Amino acid sequence: MTHVLVTGATGTVGRHVVDGIRDVPDLAVTAASRDPVRARDRLDCATVPFDFTVPATYRDAFADVEALFLVRPPALSRVRRDIVPALAAAVGAGVEHVVFLSVIGADTNPFVPHARIESWLADAGLETTFLRASFFMQNLSTTHREEIRNGRLAVPAGNGKTSFVDARDVAAVAVRTLRTRTTGAYDLTGPEALDYDAVCRQLSAVLDHDVAYTDPSLPRFLVSRYRLEGDLAKVGVMAAIYTTARLGLADRVTDDVHTVLDRPPIDVRTFARDNRSAWL
Ligand SMILES: NC(=O)c1ccc[n+]([C@@H]2O[C@H](COP(=O)([O-])OP(=O)(O)OC[C@H]3O[C@@H](n4cnc5c(N)ncnc54)[C@H](OP(=O)(O)O)[C@@H]3O)[C@@H](O)[C@H]2O)c1
Repeated sequence: MTHVLVTGATGTVGRHVVDGIRDVPDLAVTAASRDPVRARDRLDCATVPFDFTVPATYRDAFADVEALFLVRPPALSRVRRDIVPALAAAVGAGVEHVVFLSVIGADTNPFVPHARIESWLADAGLETTFLRASFFMQNLSTTHREEIRNGRLAVPAGNGKTSFVDARDVAAVAVRTLRTRTTGAYDLTGPEALDYDAVCRQLSAVLDHDVAYTDPSLPRFLVSRYRLEGDLAKVGVMAAIYTTARLGLADRVTDDVHTVLDRPPIDVRTFARDNRSAWL
């Protein structure tokens, strides 16, 4: 039996990793959370208190753990200060295999925090699996949920295409690599790259109302999104992501999901159908 600690277990990908591990007889799961009681209620599995920024939580969290599903919380960008101490504790506690939720392009862009985490893990002598995921379809049902409900999606991506991936596929690949203890790096995308006009057409086909795409200027997006989010760092990251798409740098499609799972990745239409209730 391999004991897996899932960080980010209450998040978009981690919750599906917890679900997936439950179905694997040779794996046992513990969900790490800053609020383990709430996490246990939501996930119905063993939980442990864990906070990257609170070293006192490390010892119990990593006790008897052989494999780690590692999620960098979006708010923690200072890798050396906020992430590395926990990773060092995991190594000290005997963790052998780390499956890290990274981001597509982390191998060529040293400025993303994921690149620094990959580099630290590679030097630590662990077995590592890097899941370099494209943009999650779930951003449409979380961050952009209200807009889509109201029939208008405003992102400054122009006609640029994005190879959206369903977080459920990312989680399924994670569970497979944890079960088979497969190391290496995978670029995880959906089956095709779509521009936001096409995404809105897919959403309109599934919902009872039309969803229109508007392409605001970058300053306009920054101002209106900041009013909504009140978090400058988050809005800055969003602007960078949509600008990358606008420049045609987010459209690479790979076979990696298909290769690992032996089935095609989930497409945007299926994602929209499965999550229809989010926008009603
Ligand atoms: N969104 C995308 O399109 C996309 C694409 C590729 C890669 N990524 C990467 O995926 C990662 C985010 O994954 P996600 O979207 O699945 O997560 P998420 O939904 O944003 O959830 C964040 C998770 O982090 C946990 N967390 C927050 N602060 C924490 C702390 N101080 N210590 C321990 N845990 C903490 C939260 O758990 P508790 O509240 O229970 O503690 C929560 O489960 C990021 O690194 C992001 O860059 C995102």
